[in-house]
Amino acid sequence: MATVLWDAKGLVLLNILPQGQCINATQYCSTLGRLRDAIRRKRSGLLKKGVVLQHNNAT
Ligand SMILES: *[C@@H]1O[C@H](CO)[C@@H](O)[C@H](O)[C@H]1NC(C)=O
Repeated sequence: MATVLWDAKGLVLLNILPQGQCINATQYCSTLGRLRDAIRRKRSGLLKKGVVLQHNNAT
């Protein structure tokens, strides 16, 4: 399973789980932590402005 997180500028984080592994709450929280770190590295200053996480193209 791959989790792809991007913004208007492009890819922010690609998280690939080993084959056969499913996502659970622990994995999801870990992914969100990695997303926060990736935003800090790749989009400095954005965390101060606020981030909206939109799942599956929800309106
Ligand atoms: C969540 O998934 C990870 C990785 O497969 C596993 O180590 C962990 O035990 C799982 N946690 C729960 C609560 O199922």
